[in-house]
Amino acid sequence: MTTPPATVATGLDKTTVEKPSPLPLLEVINVSKRFPVRLGPLKRGAVSAVDTLSFSVEQGQTMGIVGESGCGKSTAARLVVGLLPIDEGDVIFEGVNVRSPHQPRHTGAREKEIHRNMQMVFQDPHSALNPRASVGEIIAFPMKVHGFSRQDQRERTGWLLEQVGLHGNHASYYPHQLSGGQRQRVNIARALALSPKLVVCDEAVSALDKSVQAQVLNLLKDLQQELGLTYMFISHDLNVVEYMSDTVCVMYLGQAVEICDADRLYANPLHPYTRALLASTPVLDVTGAPRPDVPPLEGELPSPLDPPSGCRFRTRCPSAMAICAEEAPAVTQPEPGHRVACHLYPAGPDAGLSMRRHAVDGRPERNSNA
Ligand SMILES: Nc1ncnc2c1ncn2[C@@H]1O[C@H](COP(=O)(O)OP(=O)(O)O)[C@@H](O)[C@H]1O
Ligand code: SF4
Ligand SMILES: [Mg+2]
Repeated sequence: MTTPPATVATGLDKTTVEKPSPLPLLEVINVSKRFPVRLGPLKRGAVSAVDTLSFSVEQGQTMGIVGESGCGKSTAARLVVGLLPIDEGDVIFEGVNVRSPHQPRHTGAREKEIHRNMQMVFQDPHSALNPRASVGEIIAFPMKVHGFSRQDQRERTGWLLEQVGLHGNHASYYPHQLSGGQRQRVNIARALALSPKLVVCDEAVSALDKSVQAQVLNLLKDLQQELGLTYMFISHDLNVVEYMSDTVCVMYLGQAVEICDADRLYANPLHPYTRALLASTPVLDVTGAPRPDVPPLEGELPSPLDPPSGCRFRTRCPSAMAICAEEAPAVTQPEPGHRVACHLYPAGPDAGLSMRRHAVDGRPERNSNA
């Protein structure tokens, strides 16, 4: 890949790989989101879409977020990038609390800086693109908003097209003239326009054919290496998440139920939900870890309007016990760096752990207001 063109001197030209930071780039701490809904003329309720969700992502790494449709993955993504306000909890980015409901929202240049550092790639490459704008205009738009000169916009758009495997000529195309894979490449180029540090990919390949999926996944991996990107990679597809992730967070009905390194999660899943989910997913690669020998997942996700008491998975769990209806399980660490919220793994000396620290044991948890 070629060197990026020089951009405006606003600190926006950080496309070179930086040294890994000793602290996580992103920390999500006890974040919750409820959507108020009308249940009838006089009755109101609230959908518990995300509940005390915690995880952290190291710089240059990929955190895979996986779970069934409706478990809160997209809501979590929108909360992290600021497309939705959070009800409770904190999002810490580069050591700064960027999205606490208890402190005023950052404004002006600070908010712009936060915004440019966190970008999203959405599922549907077609609807995410303005059909009346050319590819060049689409990619250049964020740069225009952030004050790049016309020449910088043009040069950087050409460079971005090259980075995502398109030709400079594609700048004059319109979205309807491109294939699904090419459109998603344009989405990725737009997301990279401002040299973000964190890219949140929400089902970024789910709408693509399998062969095109593989190309786009490989492109994302190449870009990560080249540009030192950190990904939050969201998918309902366990195989895709396994291929992409360093660490995986398994979500069930708004909560994180298991977090650990991807290799370990697929080789030795501990939470009954993860085990059932994996048992329901075929191994695509013959060299992949065998699936757990448990019955596949059965039944529907319960309504987030009225989640089950205690453990939210208990209505579908083959191992459910009496305590599971009474008490929400604490997060424990049955093996180093492997966190799980389930009464099958009782709290020992690790009582009080959160899902935030997933990989490095013994490191102190950071103050959320750092
Ligand atoms: N704006 C909204 N208003 C009400 N409910 C919502 C809203 N957005 C999402 N939800 C609900 O929150 C839950 C989680 O949704 P979502 O985050 O989209 O899940 P996923 O991305 O894992 O499929 C679902 O029950 C969904 O219906
Ligand atoms: S806490 Fe109980 S119901 Fe929940 S996953 Fe563990 S065993 Fe199953
Ligand atoms: Mg979603």
